[in-house]
Amino acid sequence: MTAPRRAPTRTDIPVLLRARPREIWVELTSDCNARCIYCCVSQPGYRGKDLAMSPEQLADMLAPYAPPEVRITGHGETTMLPHWTKTAKLLLERGFAVTTNSNFAKEFSDDEIDVLSRFRSLEISCDIADAELLPRVRRGCRLERIEANLARIVATCEREFRELPHLNISATLTDLTMHGLPDLVRWAHARRCHALEVVNLERYPAPPGGLAWRHPSEADPERMLALIEEARGVARELGFTFRVQQGLIDACLGVLGQKSERPFNECGECRPNPTSGDARAADVSEERR
Ligand SMILES: C[S@@+](CC[C@H](N)C(=O)[O-])C[C@H]1O[C@@H](n2cnc3c(N)ncnc32)[C@H](O)[C@@H]1O
Ligand code: SF4
Repeated sequence: MTAPRRAPTRTDIPVLLRARPREIWVELTSDCNARCIYCCVSQPGYRGKDLAMSPEQLADMLAPYAPPEVRITGHGETTMLPHWTKTAKLLLERGFAVTTNSNFAKEFSDDEIDVLSRFRSLEISCDIADAELLPRVRRGCRLERIEANLARIVATCEREFRELPHLNISATLTDLTMHGLPDLVRWAHARRCHALEVVNLERYPAPPGGLAWRHPSEADPERMLALIEEARGVARELGFTFRVQQGLIDACLGVLGQKSERPFNECGECRPNPTSGDARAADVSEERR
């Protein structure tokens, strides 16, 4: 006799079919209001385009996946779109935890600052705390503007009794900016940021009319590793989270003919010290050696 048919239960569905994304990235535009010298956006012939979807269509499309985080960024600059706050507000209203990566190149309106201050986290790109050099590398960006926008987000959160988004400075280092890494850690900490991550540069040809640059491992790998150590020491003293993408460390060690000893974890992160009392505090890489 065959068993009576029943509706499938959750445990009948193979585990992979039950998996859901931890984070969904949505590229609202691949166009940008800046032209960083190392970015593919600056390559001749690059054409960005905008996502052809209304905020409502996007929110409806995301809803069934219930992602813990929605990151509205891609290979462009979300905040250059005139309607970006409309999309962000709708996602926030529908209960999504929203995050983004931004160049902070423009002077945000009060409304934009208010929306950004309600995000869960913000990755803000800044390679060097040098007001003269930064706009030559990240063309279209200015240090003073990044500082002003950051200060306004902090002030808004204080005024509204809101938790500050997790503020992470993302530094894409070249031979032109690597020397400023320890100072950049001090700068980020002084501006109430929580973390700094050093990005391993992907190589594109230098665009016409811009400064020529090299991957740090090709310019001076020994100095790059020494600067990472120095910056790590500064971060440890400040109780600040500092990460380096392992690819950068491996590239430097590779040029020097050494193998990685993995002093950092898999993504080159100095892990917070669980005994320090500050979850965001310094690294324990010395203990791990
Ligand atoms: C492509 S941008 C998009 C978001 C936003 N426009 C920004 O600059 O933050 C995201 C990150 O990629 C980094 N990036 C750009 N070109 C890169 C490259 N050639 N190699 C590695 N990272 C790169 C940027 O510095 C930035 O931190
Ligand atoms: S701001 Fe971001 S997307 Fe725009 S050129 Fe710079 S790195 Fe590329």
